[in-house]
Amino acid sequence: MAQSKPEQSRLIIHDLARRNGRTEFARDVRSGLSSYPKQLFPKYLYDELGSRLFEAICEVDEYYLTRAEDKILTSYADEIVRAIPNCKTLIELGSGSAQKTRKIIEALIRGCGELLFIPVDISATALEKSSHALLDSYPNLKINAYAADYFEALEALPPLGPDPALVLFLGSNIGNFEPDEAVDFLSAIRRVLRRQDALLLGADLKKDARTLEAAYDDSLGVTRAFIVNELERINRELDANFDLWAFGLRSLYNESAGRVEVYLESLRSQDINIRGLDMSISFDAGERIHMENSYKFDLNGLKLLGRRSGFDLERTWLDEEKLFSSNLFRVPEA
Ligand SMILES: C[S@@+](CC[C@H](N)C(=O)[O-])C[C@H]1O[C@@H](n2cnc3c(N)ncnc32)[C@H](O)[C@@H]1O
Repeated sequence: MAQSKPEQSRLIIHDLARRNGRTEFARDVRSGLSSYPKQLFPKYLYDELGSRLFEAICEVDEYYLTRAEDKILTSYADEIVRAIPNCKTLIELGSGSAQKTRKIIEALIRGCGELLFIPVDISATALEKSSHALLDSYPNLKINAYAADYFEALEALPPLGPDPALVLFLGSNIGNFEPDEAVDFLSAIRRVLRRQDALLLGADLKKDARTLEAAYDDSLGVTRAFIVNELERINRELDANFDLWAFGLRSLYNESAGRVEVYLESLRSQDINIRGLDMSISFDAGERIHMENSYKFDLNGLKLLGRRSGFDLERTWLDEEKLFSSNLFRVPEA
């Protein structure tokens, strides 16, 4: 029986997040909580605990996104990878637990026998855990992982080999960007791709407000725990005294802007001390911190987003209930 290569010779992890993370977090918390209205950035939701809480969100009934995207990848992974013949490099931005990615990894290994996987995630712990789990499952997989911010990793990536590469950006993470930022981000991906490569973008579709708001405020309170964990992270890492029970979650669909807006609302007037930043801040009762936006899409909007970023939208796959979309973007012919 063929022996698989030892894990350590198949795994490299570049930890750029640990090098730069601490000072950026402190800087962004200071500027976000000094601004009006107050805001915090979604990428800081994903410390070790936050990454686990996100995995729990994927299990709650109301959060349909993960299940819908998983159904698409289960049904169409072979068809998707047939669009990129001989693809031997898979890059995933914001890979998290990389559970859904397994469908694409398996389809690529079925086609080519071997694969280099380059996952990128701001959460070094999620990246390490998922990398070991994948290497355990797939003896013909090599992993070259980047614990880094998306933009930082795109700059640091090694030149692509001669065979085609596929980039994944799943989970509708694209919805966390403001529209112009989404164009900047996809343009940065576009700059590392060639004509033979492709980008598979998971995008949540516009739907009724009740379904969308429930997805970001589930009845078990898992989403509240995930969001409020960013305040707990400020308590832990910057020596602050946020009372986590003094904030409520408010998730509202802004239909004209096409986005779910997620806030933490102060349930009373209160003063917070962030000793690590030598900073005090006051909240009025009812005052909100903007935590994240999650933009929703339609197919025309996705086509336009692609065009503004230098891509053609070649093909879209939907789940049966048409809740979610997987979109294959390609660099157009010169
Ligand atoms: C919504 S989760 C999606 C995880 C997985 N792709 C999925 O579809 O289930 C977002 C992932 O992106 C990572 N992430 C968020 N902001 C990031 C950033 N600016 N740079 C790199 N990774 C980021 C998080 O750590 C997390 O694993």
